[in-house]
Amino acid sequence: MREDLMLKEICERIWDLARPYLNTRKNDTHTEIAAGLAQQLLAQEGGDEDIVMPAIILHDTGWKKVPEDVQSKAFGPKATLPEWNRVHEVEGARIAGHILRSVNYPNDKILEIQEIIKEHDSRKEPLSLNDSIVKDADKLWRYSQNAFQINAIRFALTADENVERLRRNLEPWFLTKSGKRMAREALEERIQELKETDAAAGLP
Ligand SMILES: [Fe+2]
Ligand SMILES: [Fe+2]
Repeated sequence: MREDLMLKEICERIWDLARPYLNTRKNDTHTEIAAGLAQQLLAQEGGDEDIVMPAIILHDTGWKKVPEDVQSKAFGPKATLPEWNRVHEVEGARIAGHILRSVNYPNDKILEIQEIIKEHDSRKEPLSLNDSIVKDADKLWRYSQNAFQINAIRFALTADENVERLRRNLEPWFLTKSGKRMAREALEERIQELKETDAAAGLP
């Protein structure tokens, strides 16, 4: 069997095992979109699909171990309990190890994936190109239509504040050239959509 087909099959099994951990904090949609973005980044930047794809699928599984009433206070620009953000990273790395061992994933690859997940939010400096792609795919979701709506409600942002937050973070958030370009393009799309909504509502 071709290696890429084998990886596709293993990733489907990883998805199945990850899903019970992703049905919180809208992580199922977030992860699906981020995984698609990771594929696009891999095509443009290189990197190892057999590290990046399991890492992005599993990176937020640890949120399942954070009580739902705490989750909303653990992340974002107005976080009041940011220490819980570390819990989702550490627990995510543990759950990833458990899931990957159960599909007999190679040990050295499990270790690299766990390293990436363990500090995917808290470590700003990337360990490798694989790490950069996972971090960029995770943050690129914030520029999607899905995230734009979710985060406006989550963080109580007006449309203008939401746009401003995404624009301000274009430089500091993204580590790859493609990530930065994709974020800029997605932001332009969000701005265009807002203009169209305003025009439909008869606003100037
Ligand atoms: Fe996360
Ligand atoms: Fe995430």
